[in-house]
Amino acid sequence: MIMLSMADLVPEIEKRKSGRALSNKNVPLEIIERIMTAAALAPSCFNNQPWRFLVVHDEPVLNNVKAALTPGNYWAKQAPVLIAVCTKTDLDCTPPDGRQYAFFDTGLAVENCLLQVVKEGLIAHAIAGFNQAEVKKVLSVPEEFTVITLIITGYQGDPSLLNENHRQAEDSARERLPLDKVVMYNRWKK
Ligand SMILES: Cc1cc2nc3c(=O)[nH]c(=O)nc-3n(C[C@H](O)[C@H](O)[C@H](O)COP(=O)(O)O)c2cc1C
Repeated sequence: MIMLSMADLVPEIEKRKSGRALSNKNVPLEIIERIMTAAALAPSCFNNQPWRFLVVHDEPVLNNVKAALTPGNYWAKQAPVLIAVCTKTDLDCTPPDGRQYAFFDTGLAVENCLLQVVKEGLIAHAIAGFNQAEVKKVLSVPEEFTVITLIITGYQGDPSLLNENHRQAEDSARERLPLDKVVMYNRWKK
C-alpha cells in the first residue's frame, strides 16, 4: 500500500474534527452564507439538490431547539447558531432497484458545509442526538421531511466547560478503521 502523509490531504479535511468546546460568540451572517453556498455546490443525482437547510440563530428559537438535545449533547447549548438539515426521498432519484439518493446527496452537501466551516476558522459538529419530533415542531418543518442532522457551529470556546471524556476527546487524534478494512481493490475481499 502507498503511504501518504496527512499533509498531502486537502487541508480542511486534515484539520476537520467534531469539536465540542464552543464559544457563544455570534457568527456573522456573511460567513453563514459562504458556508451555505459551499453546501449548495455539492453534486446530486440529476442535480436534484434535495437538501434544505434551516439556519437557526434567533435566540428564542435557538433555545427551543436546544431543549430538544439529548443530555449527552449538553455542550451544543453554547452554540450561537445551528443548521437543521432536512430532506425527503421524493426530492431526489429513486431508481427501481430501491436506491434512494436524497440522504446520500444531502450528506455530500453536509460535508461541503463542514469543510467550509473549517476554512472559516470555526467548529462544526453534526449530531443525531436530538428529539426530531420536537425539532420539527419548533421549526415548523413539514411532516414529510426528515431532519437528518443538526450541524452545531461556532467559534472555538473554553474546553473547561466540557465533561472529562469530552475534554480528553478535544485533544485526541481522530480514530479510524485501518484503510485495508474499508478499501478493497478490484474484487470484494472476504
Ligand atoms: C450523522 C452524525 C451524527 C452524530 N451524532 C453525534 C451526536 O449526537 N453527538 C456527538 O457528540 N457527536 C455526534 N457525531 C460526531 C461523531 O461522533 C464523529 O464524527 C466521529 O466520532 C468521528 O470524529 P470526527 O468527526 O472528529 O472525525 C455525529 C456525527 C455524524 C456524522
